[in-house]
Amino acid sequence: MVSVHELLGRIGYNYFVFTSLLKNVRFYILVISVSFSLGAYLWVLQTIPEGTLQIIRITQIYAFTALILLYTALLIGPLCYQFRWIPKRALIVKSRRAIGVSAFYFALLHALCAFFEELGGFPGLFYLPANYLIAISLSFTALCILTAMAATSFNRFIGKWWWKPLHRFVYLAGILILIHALMLGTHFQDLSTMIPRISFFLLSFLLFLEARRIDAYLERTFLFLVGWNVTLVLFAITFGAGLFYYYYPISSSDGTNTNALPSGVPNFPGLVGDRTKRFSVTFDHPESIIPNKDTELTFKINDAANGNPVLLFNKPYEKTMHLIIVDEGLTYYDHIHPEQQGSTFIITTKFPQEGRYHLYTDFQPIGAIEQQFGFTVTVGNAEGITSTNFEPDTELTKQVDNYSITLNYTAPLVASKLSIGQQELKFTIKDKDGQDVKTLEPYLASFGHLVMINTQTFDYLHVHPTNITAPKPEDRSGPDVSFLPLGLYGPIKSGLYKVFGQFKIDGKLVLVDFIVRVE
Ligand code: HEM
Repeated sequence: MVSVHELLGRIGYNYFVFTSLLKNVRFYILVISVSFSLGAYLWVLQTIPEGTLQIIRITQIYAFTALILLYTALLIGPLCYQFRWIPKRALIVKSRRAIGVSAFYFALLHALCAFFEELGGFPGLFYLPANYLIAISLSFTALCILTAMAATSFNRFIGKWWWKPLHRFVYLAGILILIHALMLGTHFQDLSTMIPRISFFLLSFLLFLEARRIDAYLERTFLFLVGWNVTLVLFAITFGAGLFYYYYPISSSDGTNTNALPSGVPNFPGLVGDRTKRFSVTFDHPESIIPNKDTELTFKINDAANGNPVLLFNKPYEKTMHLIIVDEGLTYYDHIHPEQQGSTFIITTKFPQEGRYHLYTDFQPIGAIEQQFGFTVTVGNAEGITSTNFEPDTELTKQVDNYSITLNYTAPLVASKLSIGQQELKFTIKDKDGQDVKTLEPYLASFGHLVMINTQTFDYLHVHPTNITAPKPEDRSGPDVSFLPLGLYGPIKSGLYKVFGQFKIDGKLVLVDFIVRVE
């Protein structure tokens, strides 16, 4: 039985603990971190349609939050050392440990989401390529270091002989994390984009401050080094070499940079990645396909280098796979999206009538550029196949639904120019009264989608819109949408092409097509 005196004592003690917590900046940092992690999770659930993209986004948000917090924790020391005029330095230094613990918290959340959801947990390890395994081993080591630091960040450990040396390992963790992000991170595939640039600028700033601190220490210990600024000079040389490499990257053995797009071509979604990676697609469908009957199509993706199933895909234009189906006469066009199940993509669709159909899959495994594979199926009776005589359109304005859509380009279209992104195709959309349509809505992260199919060889070209910034759902555009053809896997062939453009206007999907000659 607890006496009243004892009870009051306990309440008083708990109240004391509670009020001390409320006065402690570390408490607020941890509460904000936990709230932010929950808020970010709910925000992703609300704003991103259900599917793998949700996992990828939340994994990335946690990764970057961990990175920013870790950077802040590392920066506080050298910053307060260099700039002693900074106000509330004591408070900032005091908050450092809580920022470090928060960095660990977000790194743990990121690692759990990435490992168990994105990479498929322990069974998934068997399917991962070597570079993934290396990257994950490095990041796992970094996570162990962060765990050890977070576990020893309580007051009772401070001052122990091992505390400082242990906490110096954070620099090793930082390096391992950076290598890991460079090897795996979607946002680090192309180092010329904003996120890697900002990251390297911030890293250089930190290294610069640290170099000054290390020099001050060296000069105190070894008097003959006074005035030499050894570390600063080393840092300057490394920084200069980094810049040099960035602007003059090492080319591949045949003298071309395998990752470079032709100069002046924007970094289209899907074209950022290793151009040398190869994949295989196994296409499966029922032996006999009957017109207008549900038909299941499956596409299994393997890494052509080692035969491993491919599990990780980017979502260029919001989907892990785009499937285009056309008939032999190029009068039928369908753009659909098979569902990913592991390394296989499945969809059930109907073919409207007998004949031969061409199917094109478009997908982007993480780390590679977008991959396009073409297949042919015969629906119903093969004898029904007829060849079509295609003629180029002389009139480049067409009426579709209530709209008048014009295709503009600088004639003639020349294969060699199209191959290197030097000729644009522009669509202009007007309403029935001839007024510009300015209410184009985003459809699959773009104001338009364009496909070109060679009428003789059935070569497929996915043509990207020149505006590479994904619009927000509430954005509107029009009347013009421009596209830039590009020979992704080699020069574009000359010949007649049927161009299929898809636009979303007032909630309705509009399809327009033209036949153009490429010389
Ligand atoms: C065993 C532990 C870890 C695993 C399995 C793991 C896994 C991954 C994966 C799969 C990605 C690619 C995500 C994507 O871009 O879609 C990634 C990226 C990244 N990870 Fe980790 N990670 C681990 C630990 C860490 C730690 C400790 C940090 C510390 C901050 C970290 C920071 C990052 C960053 C900054 C990226 C780049 C994100 C982007 O480019 O969008 N990771 N990680």
